[in-house]
Amino acid sequence: MTDQTTQPRVLIFDTTLRDGEQSPGATMTHEEKLEIADLLDEMGVDIIEAGFPIASEGDFAAVSEISRRAKQATICGLSRANYKDIDRCWEAVRHAKSPRIHTFIGTSPLHRAIPNLTMDEMAERIHDTVTHARNLCDNVQWSPMDATRTEHDYLCRVVEIAIKAGATTINIPDTVGYTAPRESADLIRMLLERVPGAETITFATHCHNDLGMATANSLAAVEAGARQIECTINGLGERAGNTALEEVVMALKVRNDIMPYSTRIDTRRLMHISRRVSTVSGFAVQFNKAIVGKNAFAHESGIHQDGMLKNAETFEIMRPEDIGLSGTSLPLGKHSGRAALRAKMKDLGVDLADNQLNDLFVRFKALADRKKEVFDDDLLALVQDADTSE
Ligand code: KIV
Ligand code: ZN
Repeated sequence: MTDQTTQPRVLIFDTTLRDGEQSPGATMTHEEKLEIADLLDEMGVDIIEAGFPIASEGDFAAVSEISRRAKQATICGLSRANYKDIDRCWEAVRHAKSPRIHTFIGTSPLHRAIPNLTMDEMAERIHDTVTHARNLCDNVQWSPMDATRTEHDYLCRVVEIAIKAGATTINIPDTVGYTAPRESADLIRMLLERVPGAETITFATHCHNDLGMATANSLAAVEAGARQIECTINGLGERAGNTALEEVVMALKVRNDIMPYSTRIDTRRLMHISRRVSTVSGFAVQFNKAIVGKNAFAHESGIHQDGMLKNAETFEIMRPEDIGLSGTSLPLGKHSGRAALRAKMKDLGVDLADNQLNDLFVRFKALADRKKEVFDDDLLALVQDADTSE
């Protein structure tokens, strides 16, 4: 086991309450947002992006209240690149022990065309808005939205302007989930090499999952020098979602041998917060979702169940207890074998002789062919049927 406490820290920036909530249909009530913010704070999230204060009175109220009650986490609010947004954001986050203003503007050709700004006009806007934010708060994050589709020379130019204007974190968003791991790493490396002052600030990676590569892209960025990962619980977020917090955190824990970076997350709280976010957002977690899916620690086939009963490491690379589950689950179905049936019957307090187990196994298989999963009550009924027919 490696000692993670001496390793470079990767900050975990959770945006479930901002980017996650932007997912169509995922709206949360004020009380629900407070509950999730408390859970994130207790779990050890470094920065909570609590909302977009100018977006609505409700968002403003939630960000203000979360700022007042957070015990450890930095509380961040989002704002577009204009003074009104930034002032409103500051009004909401200023109550926090550690407040942060996050301001952004789309820098790729497609996004520059929307406000119809020339490259020079946009550069000036970035300078003015970051300076304004920094005059209010000494913790300022700036994001060039759609960074992964922005010309490299222009990206370097605007990142340098934002750093000179006082940004303390530069976030590199892959807004449309377009990048791939090698490119994600190369981009961070290029910025660190080419931008004067880059070594004085923290680079963040913010990935979307449109091609299913958000986790891989985030970890590749960390290996290249990013020290903040932006993510959401269950990967909640617009379209295919954001990087899933539970995935990057557990990847850094389980493969710490090849990715030697530490986080402050208490991973034993992951399952609980995953379930709460699923319930309050109304977004079910897919059964085979990495880390927190119902089947992530379940084994049905006979070969796997037999292996698990002999040594859990045969088919599990992490312990279910590490994410807050009480143990592995060995659901019985048509692929299960005798060893799992014997173990299950023992758990249920039924001791069977070999011939009784063989008989039960035949009838269990027949039932499993008709039913997706065989439950404890089904097994007890099969045993009772055998007793009464004797
Ligand atoms: O995906 C994105 O570009 C964003 C920014 C607002 C940071 O969420
Ligand atoms: Zn985003």
